[in-house]
Amino acid sequence: MMTGKVFLVGAGPGDPDLLTIKAHRLLQQADVVLYDRLVGADIIAMIPEATEKLYVGKAKSLHSLPQDQINSLLARKAKEGKVVVRLKGGDPFIFGRGGEELEELVEEGVSFEVVPGVTAAAGCAAYAGIPLTHRDYAQSVRFLTGHLKDGTTELPWDELVHPSQTLVIYMGLTGLESISQSLIRFGMRPSMPVAIVEKGTSSEQRVFTSTIKDVVGVAQQNEVKSPALLIIGEVVTLQDKLAWFSA
Ligand SMILES: C[S@@+](CC[C@H](N)C(=O)[O-])C[C@H]1O[C@@H](n2cnc3c(N)ncnc32)[C@H](O)[C@@H]1O
Repeated sequence: MMTGKVFLVGAGPGDPDLLTIKAHRLLQQADVVLYDRLVGADIIAMIPEATEKLYVGKAKSLHSLPQDQINSLLARKAKEGKVVVRLKGGDPFIFGRGGEELEELVEEGVSFEVVPGVTAAAGCAAYAGIPLTHRDYAQSVRFLTGHLKDGTTELPWDELVHPSQTLVIYMGLTGLESISQSLIRFGMRPSMPVAIVEKGTSSEQRVFTSTIKDVVGVAQQNEVKSPALLIIGEVVTLQDKLAWFSA
């Protein structure tokens, strides 16, 4: 039997209109689609009924597979001769473990392609009306993960407190207090503007603006839930003028 192929595909941050044409075509052609928690129901609904759909979720979920089992399932399905779409929220190469899954495919001799998606930073910034760079405010932007390790968020704080730089923090909600305190301790002015974008680009998007000093209280008062993205920097002040999307 001919070996199939795996397509590692980014689904974008939520709005199904942000799927690429290539992603949409592959979803119609796939024999099997393995998808994550962050891929919205609107996108899953675009997959033909006859296609095998496997939810592989996230480690916290009861109905999910550990990463090594996802990796071997991908290889096994391709070796059965199937066209396999591995569908991930946002972009598969940005905090998406896409690289780990491909390494296993290389070891197993399975061929693959990668289809980029709109990452949460780009999607949330656009739909919140916050340009991540702007000639007057920020000449660089950094994407970071706020994921906790041993109860602390390990980030190169001294490099992050930098003028004219926007910070975009993925998975920063759990460690928000530690992030806020560390940035202030390393010299960020307490009034630095911050935006929290919850469920960005979706019909349930909420955007809250605050300062690095007060952001924890704002998140708590509004019961912000995951998925949420933090945008920190002077560019956040443009949101008042440039917001266009109403969920
Ligand atoms: C495991 S990372 C995956 C990122 C994904 N690969 C990407 O490129 O957007 C998950 C985190 O991305 C962020 N995220 C993803 N989609 C989002 C959305 N629609 N709104 C806000 N944050 C989002 C959140 O910080 C979430 O905890």
